[in-house]
Amino acid sequence: MNKDLVKNKYNLKIKEFNKHNRLYYNKSKPIITDAEYDRLKNEIIILEKKYKYLRNNSSPNLQVGFKPSKSFEKFKHKVPMLSLANAFGEEDLINFEKKIFNYLSKNIKFDYSVEPKIDGISASLTYIDKKLIYGVSRGDGETGEVITENLKTIKDIPLEIKSRDFPDEIEIRGEVFIKKKDFFKIKDKFANPRNAASGSLRQKNPNETKKIPLNFIAYTFGYTQYNLHKYQSDFLNDLKKWGFKINKDNKIINSIDELIKYHKSFEAKRFGLDYDLDGLVYKVNDLNLQNRLGFTSNSPRWAIAHKFSADSAKTMIINIDIQVGRTGALTPVAKVKPVNIGGVVVSNATLHNEDEIQRKDIRIGDTVTVERAGDVIPHVIEVDKNKRGKNAKKFQFPTSCPSCGSDTTKEFNVTTKKYDAVRRCTNESYGCEKISIEKLKHFISKDALNIDGLGKKVVEKFWDLHFIKKPQDIFSLNYNKIVNLEGWGKQSVNNLKNSIEKSKKISLQRFIYSIGIRHIGIESAKLISDNIKNISNFIELIKLKQFDKFLNIDGIGETQINSLKNFFSNKLNSDIVIELNSILKIENQISNENGKLRDKSFMFTGKLDGISRAEAKSLIEKNSGTTLSSVNKKLDYLVLGEKATKRKVEQAKNLGINIISFEELRKLLN
Ligand code: IVH
Repeated sequence: MNKDLVKNKYNLKIKEFNKHNRLYYNKSKPIITDAEYDRLKNEIIILEKKYKYLRNNSSPNLQVGFKPSKSFEKFKHKVPMLSLANAFGEEDLINFEKKIFNYLSKNIKFDYSVEPKIDGISASLTYIDKKLIYGVSRGDGETGEVITENLKTIKDIPLEIKSRDFPDEIEIRGEVFIKKKDFFKIKDKFANPRNAASGSLRQKNPNETKKIPLNFIAYTFGYTQYNLHKYQSDFLNDLKKWGFKINKDNKIINSIDELIKYHKSFEAKRFGLDYDLDGLVYKVNDLNLQNRLGFTSNSPRWAIAHKFSADSAKTMIINIDIQVGRTGALTPVAKVKPVNIGGVVVSNATLHNEDEIQRKDIRIGDTVTVERAGDVIPHVIEVDKNKRGKNAKKFQFPTSCPSCGSDTTKEFNVTTKKYDAVRRCTNESYGCEKISIEKLKHFISKDALNIDGLGKKVVEKFWDLHFIKKPQDIFSLNYNKIVNLEGWGKQSVNNLKNSIEKSKKISLQRFIYSIGIRHIGIESAKLISDNIKNISNFIELIKLKQFDKFLNIDGIGETQINSLKNFFSNKLNSDIVIELNSILKIENQISNENGKLRDKSFMFTGKLDGISRAEAKSLIEKNSGTTLSSVNKKLDYLVLGEKATKRKVEQAKNLGINIISFEELRKLLN
């Protein structure tokens, strides 16, 4: 065919293709079927293949929608995308409900919204003026990646909403997943359907995402301008009305007995469903109650994931390794003959601690049952003693640290009057190699410095190469050496450099957590930073060793104080903090400055009416106040409940502290 004729024909098809893209992606009004669209696209690709001179930037192979994403921008979620706590049986569910009753200080009846827990990848969709503006991945829960163009290729995701009652601004969240039958077609490329969905969503070229048929089921909201609904079930119904797909097996159930029955029946039919799921999610249906219950540091108090039972298999223990953790804990791990458990090859199983080995009398060479549930580390359930060889010897747990040779101890717990089940290395600092590596891994982890490109494996490698021995070494890496290492190049070194630079700006709370002090998790780090406000105060305290001051903080007890004292009795640890302070930009803790209780401190005594301590405390914090755990000059208000402690009231009177009832506190808040 004449070159000009070919070009003309091609250009017409490209024009047509662009028109349908515009109709689909920008106007959300396709006028041809998917099959017709694919046919048109195919015709263009055939022409390009035949006449190489046609290839150009308009090729459908190079574009999807109108703005193909090149790299993923970061996006801080307005409301964090947290995970769910797990329940494995009735006892866990009873405990979950008990905690709700305790928090609300009342045994009340409520319904659960029950939803299948699809094993996919969660995504957040922000709609402004009824149009999809941002599509973001979960990321680390706080910050995700903008993958709007990729998400737009999913047919279940509406690009524009027609309904009149759709809010002006709302963030809809749900699960992206691939159906089993579609996964089957591409199973050689990915380990499981979840990986296929996640791999496909993170393609730099949305065209690649489009090749894999992804689905989206909506189940919750993140940010909303105002409260729209009374019940989760109403919200789910509206999602459907607005054009989202919701799970057809969502249900309302009002008792633990019924939850268990539904779970059993659902588990029986799980393999017949066309998607992978790993359990059911139970949510308190009343959104007002959800709001009151709020969140712990990583999951809501109002929801739980009831997992399906674990898969298990028999295998043999080849060896028992002793791993040394960040806090010096010696954890025995069974190296087992590789065995397939529910589609995953398992070759390690945790034996938890020394006591567990003794209790179950686990020996090298034993045939054992190993269980694996979801993403939890596989563990040994029982030993088949009939299969034990005559010469099998009892396992001797080491009494010195396998990493540094130091003595190990089992601590005595004064409260329980028992020795700890865990044996620990006594060299708890940068003197023990294994502990050091684990500390470094903690330092760079998601909830701490969160350094992209510096994962656990890289830390191990850099340790072996003597690049990083202490946290501060991360900030003086010799990039010229790294660029020459296998697997590294200019681009990845640049990325690493940038993310290290970025990580220097850190909140006080994250910094305190990142140091890796035993018993100082995210929650305690927050309590301490709220109290101490800035890093200079923290360092001052370390120098003066005045940790008892923290006893005043509600939520910090002897355990944390002793751990702080012990940690900073080692000069190396204080030196590291001081040095890190000179490298990092540690931000002052900013509390919600605008609340009604700003700069005011409160303490409770006695039982409050109709509200638990925990909820009352969170109410004060939400309004910028603080709560203290002892009466002293710094206290502004003592809030009296029923049977208040007389001594505390007397102390407060002597110090001239305001004594108020809970009702009066409510009045302060209007
Ligand atoms: S609600 C604050 N509902 O489970 C928690 N999550 O472990 C909000 N998931 O990251 C999540 N089905 O990927 C919720 N019906 C459902 C869900 C669901 C699956 C996933 C989701 C989330 C993870 C939480």
